[in-house]
Amino acid sequence: MNQMNKSKNWYRDAVVYQIYPRSFYDTSSSGIGNINGITAKLDYLKGGPEGLGIDAIWISPIFTSPMADFGYDVANYTDIDPIFGTIKDFKNLLEQAHARNIRVILDFVPNHTSDKHPWFIESASTRDNPKRDWYTWRDPAVDNGPPNNWLSYFRGSAWQYSEATGQYYLHSFLTKQADLNWDNPEVREAMKQAMRFWLDMGVDGFRVDAVDGLSKDAELRDEPLAPYHDPAVRPYNYTDLLHPFSRDGPHLYERLNEMASVMAEYDNRFMINEAHPKGDDIVVGYAEYYAAIDPDNSAPFNFQCIYLPWQANAFRSYIDHFQSTMLPNYTPIYTLGNHDEPRLASRIGIPATRTAAMLLLTLPGMPFMYYGDEIGIENVAIFPDQVRDPFAEPGKGRDPERTPMQWDASANAGFTNGQPWLPVAADYAERNVAVQLANNASLLHLYKSLLKFRKSSVALREGSYQSIDCGEQIFGYIRKNESHSLVILLNFSDQAQPLPESLQLEEIMLSTISNRSIQNSAWLEPHEGQIRGLKLSDFNC
Ligand code: BGC
Repeated sequence: MNQMNKSKNWYRDAVVYQIYPRSFYDTSSSGIGNINGITAKLDYLKGGPEGLGIDAIWISPIFTSPMADFGYDVANYTDIDPIFGTIKDFKNLLEQAHARNIRVILDFVPNHTSDKHPWFIESASTRDNPKRDWYTWRDPAVDNGPPNNWLSYFRGSAWQYSEATGQYYLHSFLTKQADLNWDNPEVREAMKQAMRFWLDMGVDGFRVDAVDGLSKDAELRDEPLAPYHDPAVRPYNYTDLLHPFSRDGPHLYERLNEMASVMAEYDNRFMINEAHPKGDDIVVGYAEYYAAIDPDNSAPFNFQCIYLPWQANAFRSYIDHFQSTMLPNYTPIYTLGNHDEPRLASRIGIPATRTAAMLLLTLPGMPFMYYGDEIGIENVAIFPDQVRDPFAEPGKGRDPERTPMQWDASANAGFTNGQPWLPVAADYAERNVAVQLANNASLLHLYKSLLKFRKSSVALREGSYQSIDCGEQIFGYIRKNESHSLVILLNFSDQAQPLPESLQLEEIMLSTISNRSIQNSAWLEPHEGQIRGLKLSDFNC
């Protein structure tokens, strides 16, 4: 049954599709997506005649969890939550995915467990429990308040008082997500064992959550106020403190390397770290990650393309800088969206989503797509009584980008026969997979064409990257290997743009405008992206 392509280093150029499992497809009528739902849609992703053509899926956490943070609060690292199914369902998914040559990446959450994890329950029970030191416990400060000024990323102090033992425990996120103490070698060993459990089963890799917290200041020193913060104006929150002590501590790289060395025990596995390097120049921070943590088994997520303004110059200068630090055995990870950030289509506008698709799928490395971006799902308005995200302040939060996948025009967009856990977008009858599969000019078709093109082009998958000067509004770059040179031209503006005469271009091989005539090919239409051949003899690069 296992048809998987054995090619070594599959991850170097794999296109990964992130699935937020609660919202993908529900086969149980619970209103929440499940593992069998993912299996049922594998042909959509790859394999069937309508297949999108991705290489791997990353599934946000499916482990046993009270779901305080929807799976990012794990209560058992080696079992599946019944909401999503069973280990048997997961093994079936793995087998079916591999049969279609789709790799499976799980979401590993090492920084914290649920407060319902048996380790934490033991740890919290008495001061002399053998698991006490698996978490960080401290006496109250002299005023009986928290031991230091550290803040939770979500809100309030990072410390929670526990009556039973009269001490506080540390939590970088919700109070229900207690931070593991990675200084304790038993904790590190337990986490490595959990990784091996899934790797033994055949899982191809991990996306590793919130790694910044894996090493903290041993003395738990107070964090300084950010220089721009004025306490007279308002009380401080997470972004008003600098975080030299609660994150990115002195043992961070060593610990990530310990995890990378577990990956290295197996053949052809890879981990992608949710890293947020500090510093004035973030690219330097990323470069440090690559240099310090075995790049043959891991890479840091590069989130900057989510935060950049949608401007050709901004993308060109950032990507030039980033690529200039990439060595041959580094895997760049580009992404334009995930379950923590507002939807791509809402950030840049629907017309630009076609340009963005071409950008993401023509850059070097391992691009990550977020489910639903291939049909242009936008942020969905969430009314106060529909809010589910524990991070959400009224009107905010991450629910808008986590709404159900829009499969067809039937009730609930074909996502569930039950009551969906989050509302479905109002425009689902027009914006859905079935409608877009039937329309050759749709965004979904563009994604399919781009994925097909990428698959067939060694220059796109393995070639070098070099940007070219095409004026203010166009981001242009060459992807080149020994035999082919492609030029990618992306018009970031809503006005037609002339192409520089100096570019000696061959014909348009793929345009984001599906029925574009090749007349007037000296222009890019508004928001248009093109892939062309380049006459290298006329261009010095
Ligand atoms: C995940 C979030 C999660 C947090 C705590 C992250 O960075 O992506 O969704 O809430 O870690 O686990």
